[in-house]
Amino acid sequence: MKSNDFFTLANGVKIPAVGFGTWQIPSGDVAYNSVAAALKSGYRHIDTALAYGNEASVGQAIRDSGIDRNEIFVTSKLPAEVKSYEKVVRYAEKTVKNTALDFIDLYLIHAPWPWNEIGADYTKENIQVWKAMEEFYESGKTRAIGISNFNVKDINAILETCRIRPTVNQIKLHIGHRQEEITEHCRKNDILVEGYSPLATGRILENPSISAIAKKYGRSVAQVSVRYVLQKGALPLPKSTHPEYIKQNFDIDFEIGQEDMNYLDSLK
Ligand code: A2P
Repeated sequence: MKSNDFFTLANGVKIPAVGFGTWQIPSGDVAYNSVAAALKSGYRHIDTALAYGNEASVGQAIRDSGIDRNEIFVTSKLPAEVKSYEKVVRYAEKTVKNTALDFIDLYLIHAPWPWNEIGADYTKENIQVWKAMEEFYESGKTRAIGISNFNVKDINAILETCRIRPTVNQIKLHIGHRQEEITEHCRKNDILVEGYSPLATGRILENPSISAIAKKYGRSVAQVSVRYVLQKGALPLPKSTHPEYIKQNFDIDFEIGQEDMNYLDSLK
């Protein structure tokens, strides 16, 4: 798969195979310039969230790009703390308003639990929240809905009770953090896995084992790391604020051989 290819979601919507992640990119000039650089480098998929605080700058960069809105895929997320049916559509509409785009392409529940209660059981609440997500989807203001940071149990609770199935589960995914149980469960249920932090937020960039592989292909560790996620069948969401890195992370049209993939799989 190439960086300008698409995955097809279970509802038939096409999603560009590499997205630009904007977590931890500050609102204002930094977010605006980073998204502008990403679009200039060829990315057509931008991932944001209300919780990132940068939706307005992301939307502005998209609107100013001169690229047809329909050619850019925009994802945003319902804050993890919103766990009641009543509040969902209000938050979703706030996101659409923040971006000043007429619609969002993909809207995700940011996490199964509030960030200050990681791992807590919000199954009952998530089922109700999902009902409102379905209604938001049916309003036409998003082209697809999904989840993020959901484990197998959380996913099953939705699958067992939904009318409209989640199309995506966005999770942390990188060399040394393969999340096999979740990715396999998603694959079986036709849920596309998106991988955030494909560079482990920078922690694997100095890894000598990955460096050796990168050298072999004449690529950077970042490129091998993004490519690895794509070859695992997931959609990578690399983040950067530097135009040269942004460009490099999208320039990943090479193939890591099976033996090297196996080796990368073995790294902890
Ligand atoms: P910066 O944002 O300063 O450009 P992840 O995508 O796993 O969240 O990793 C993001 C981190 O990796 C950021 O600190 C980012 O730096 C850094 N980074 C992103 N792309 C590259 C690259 N090609 N080379 C080196 N560092 C990179």
